[in-house]
Amino acid sequence: MAITINDPISLGGLTIKNRLIMAPMQQYKGTPEAFAISHHTEHYRRRARHVGLIILESTAVSPNGRLWENDIGIYTDSHVEPLKRITDAVHEQGTPVFIQLSHGGRKSSPLVTSSLVAPSAIAFDDHYGTPQELTQKGITNVIDEYRLAAIRSIQAGFDGIELHAAHGFLIHQFASPLSNAREDAYGGSSENRARFLQEIVAAVREEVGRDYPVIVRISATDYSEGGLHPEEWVRMLKLLESELDAIHVSSGGLLPVKPSDVYSAYQLPHATAIKQHFKIPVIAVGKIHRRSLADRILQDRLADCIAVGSPLLEDPDYAEGLLVPRERELSGQS
Ligand SMILES: Cc1cc2nc3c(=O)[nH]c(=O)nc-3n(C[C@H](O)[C@H](O)[C@H](O)COP(=O)(O)O)c2cc1C
Repeated sequence: MAITINDPISLGGLTIKNRLIMAPMQQYKGTPEAFAISHHTEHYRRRARHVGLIILESTAVSPNGRLWENDIGIYTDSHVEPLKRITDAVHEQGTPVFIQLSHGGRKSSPLVTSSLVAPSAIAFDDHYGTPQELTQKGITNVIDEYRLAAIRSIQAGFDGIELHAAHGFLIHQFASPLSNAREDAYGGSSENRARFLQEIVAAVREEVGRDYPVIVRISATDYSEGGLHPEEWVRMLKLLESELDAIHVSSGGLLPVKPSDVYSAYQLPHATAIKQHFKIPVIAVGKIHRRSLADRILQDRLADCIAVGSPLLEDPDYAEGLLVPRERELSGQS
């Protein structure tokens, strides 16, 4: 039987009812102290019913790693309660919800960051300015922030964690040779550049155990010569495959450059290139907005799940439309 978007799939120990995932998307509505508000609760509740899984917007593990001055965070115990209101609302709709944990590194908001840190003192651009190179102690501290965030994620009722290793933020900065010029155990070879992510995954696993879903979102390419590409990610992710439950494949963000063309499923070839090497599910994302395209991708096993972003912002009922069984779609019945 051909796989369709309506088929369930397991991400680690969690089975989701269909393969349509709401991609993580900032609401830019957090308080100055990075607390979620009622807007977030209602936003996610409204979109929860039909998708198989929601991945919550990027949530900062550190006050020093917020991506925006109005994002949300999980870096104190007080952040847990408002996040719990969101997970309760999503669960009431019968849908699980992961949290996306992030640290901006050299791309942390200058408006709320006291000291910009990164693997190396290489600026993203003039707006962000030059970061300080993290010391070994600094690296250990950030890993501990992820560890605490993982504990709080469970307290807040999340069903899994997505580690944000994409879009040029701190984990991606360690992974890419274009932003990591270190000469210690965290720089140089692919293995060394994967070490920061590997140590974060290990710390998170120590807290959540092996049965709790932990997935990673990567930028498969830096769109620049000498940068990351899917083959190198395969080498790096192979080092921690046994600790991960899915790979979510996005692209870009490390440098102020954009892909030359953004068309339907433009990131899919990267997801497919990575999928060939892994048994765990691979999530494709990026302008996959038609049912026929989504089903084709799944049938041809080019990816295992489809994440959808912007259409769900514009139309909270978008998922319901996409998931209508094909016969109903064709016969025009309501
Ligand atoms: C308003 C907005 C906010 C976003 N915020 C995040 C985020 O917090 N974390 C993340 O990994 N990606 C973020 N993204 C990227 C989306 O998750 C997704 O990869 C992208 O929109 C492509 O999917 P689409 O073509 O279906 O919109 C954001 C995208 C949009 C439009």
